[in-house]
Amino acid sequence: MVRTYSNKIKDNIVLLQLQDDETRYFESLWEIPEGVTYNAYLILEQDTTILVDGWKHIYGEMFLEELRKFVDLKDIEYLIVHHMEPDHSGSLKQLIPHLSSKAKIVGHPLVRDLIKSFYGFDVNFYPVASETEMKVGSSTIKFYHIPWLHWPDTIASLYNNEVLFTCDAFGSFGIPSSIFFDDMPREEQERFLWYAQKYFADIIGHYIDWVSKALQKLGEVIERTKIVAPAHGPLWRNSQKIVELYKAWSSRKNVKGKLVIVYTSMYGFIKEMASTIAGEASKFFNTIKIYKFIDVHRDLVSDMLGDLLDAEAVILATATYDADVFPYAKYLIELLIAKTPKNKKILVVSNYGWGAVAGKKIASILQSAGFKVVDVIEFRSGRLLDNIERLREGVEKLARES
Ligand code: FEO
Repeated sequence: MVRTYSNKIKDNIVLLQLQDDETRYFESLWEIPEGVTYNAYLILEQDTTILVDGWKHIYGEMFLEELRKFVDLKDIEYLIVHHMEPDHSGSLKQLIPHLSSKAKIVGHPLVRDLIKSFYGFDVNFYPVASETEMKVGSSTIKFYHIPWLHWPDTIASLYNNEVLFTCDAFGSFGIPSSIFFDDMPREEQERFLWYAQKYFADIIGHYIDWVSKALQKLGEVIERTKIVAPAHGPLWRNSQKIVELYKAWSSRKNVKGKLVIVYTSMYGFIKEMASTIAGEASKFFNTIKIYKFIDVHRDLVSDMLGDLLDAEAVILATATYDADVFPYAKYLIELLIAKTPKNKKILVVSNYGWGAVAGKKIASILQSAGFKVVDVIEFRSGRLLDNIERLREGVEKLARES
């Protein structure tokens, strides 16, 4: 059951959080058994009120109910829309009819048309250029365009040099037990660093070059900001750790000795082979993550991409099917190409019944995408014992390839 949680993050700023453990597939795509939060914020100034973002569309009425605990909706003078993906903008549909006609919607110039298109409203819109300021009463808000984190419309905003609202950037999946990351127990912190990695890979991974640009733009700002407040997951009082991770991920820094083995298996032949491969790989790699997609179980694709983000090596094992690549492997490969940095070395292993097709085809696709395929091993199902030496060679070649 979803829960609402609201609390002050400083004297005049309230976090309005929807804790969503009902969405099983974020964006109808990514498995999130850990849940997700949508963080909106309400800034209560002496003589005005600023709302920062909102919640997913289906929680629009709950959002209004939560807001009314703190403010008369007619008193909201500014609504800053950092990004129009409907996990944040969805509640505009319910909210806009309740706002005063004087209320201004503030955002990237692209936002006005998106509001009209998504929700049908012509709004009193205040477009903001990057690195411009807006005076609100005695406060100042400075805006930064951070395109493609994760849509072209995304902005960050700095309130009084104290709080930086970053929307998807520095966000994570999961429902935290504390508002702030540094208040969490150590074990939970570790978990949330993983959720942030998974979020980065799944949602922002495709736009990795834009992350470096955003970090350059926000670098100094983040250093002097007291609170970094994303729209998902915990807030950061000390943002050094998450910024370091963003720098490492966006510069495509791999973890030395990390291998991800991904395999599909219809009838157990590849499963058996993968077990042999994993045993051999443990001689060369110190971190091995295995993702299997078989008849009784599928690991999480969202987790797989999280682990692939910083792995230096990958072994991909799948079958020939209908004289082509096994369909589920095609899906995994498509996501690997779309979301993962290409500086990985890959060993392709494939089996077949009567004709070898998949291995060479996969190798060609991966090479064209920019990955380094170090070897392709294909053999007929059931012939594992005849090919063990060949697999050993392939794994060693993968490990020794620079
Ligand atoms: Fe959390 Fe791209 O929206």
